[in-house]
Amino acid sequence: MMIEAYFSAIVFDPCPTCPPGLKHPLTLQGRIGVIADSHGNIASMTDCIQRLTDRRADTIIHLGDIFDSEIHHNLMNIVDVITDNNILAVKGNNDYQIEKSLENGHPMDLDPSDRQRIRQFLHSLALYFTSGNVCFAHSRPFDSIRAFYEPIDTGSTEQAARIFRHTDHHLLFCGHSHLPMLFRWRAGIVTREPIPEQTPLVFQKNEKYIIIVGSADKGECGFIDREKMVYERIRL
Ligand SMILES: [Fe+2]
Repeated sequence: MMIEAYFSAIVFDPCPTCPPGLKHPLTLQGRIGVIADSHGNIASMTDCIQRLTDRRADTIIHLGDIFDSEIHHNLMNIVDVITDNNILAVKGNNDYQIEKSLENGHPMDLDPSDRQRIRQFLHSLALYFTSGNVCFAHSRPFDSIRAFYEPIDTGSTEQAARIFRHTDHHLLFCGHSHLPMLFRWRAGIVTREPIPEQTPLVFQKNEKYIIIVGSADKGECGFIDREKMVYERIRL
């Protein structure tokens, strides 16, 4: 009872400066690359983009923590990489912290036009978005600040089970926890499983999945083929 009340508090704790979760206007089909938690590491992020482009990804999605709250010297370069490569992105807690710091007047050695552009970029990032029955979020797929601060993977299936209960996404892709992990719902039972490096994961219609992609900063990204209904973990 206490746990359910706590969960409701998370759902209804809105983020006043964030656009709410979006339904993506396009149904993202075909091949989708996913990157998470690059934390200001441009070299890792561009390596992931290159690897996913080589795999002929139609769309690349960054699952947040594009920036790191402690790294301020390359903010504009990061925005350029994301926009030049047409990457869709959601907001992570570190991105939110940078946004708040800029809003509060932290100088970060930026000229006014770059500062304005970075703020606009950050302000435009949604907390999560859905495409059909697939959802992309930094952590929990809800319109709240706590949703992107609190991890799904706490070493147990408890948080994942709540998300499966409160949403009807077939697939949820997220970051935040830096270790790749799979949560699978099958007939009411939730399991927590490592994601193998060599064997593609084949999605079943009668199961639901939460996939934590792993940190690009540590050389992880992922590749979804929506037609073949498979996911591959990619190690740089
Ligand atoms: Fe995060």
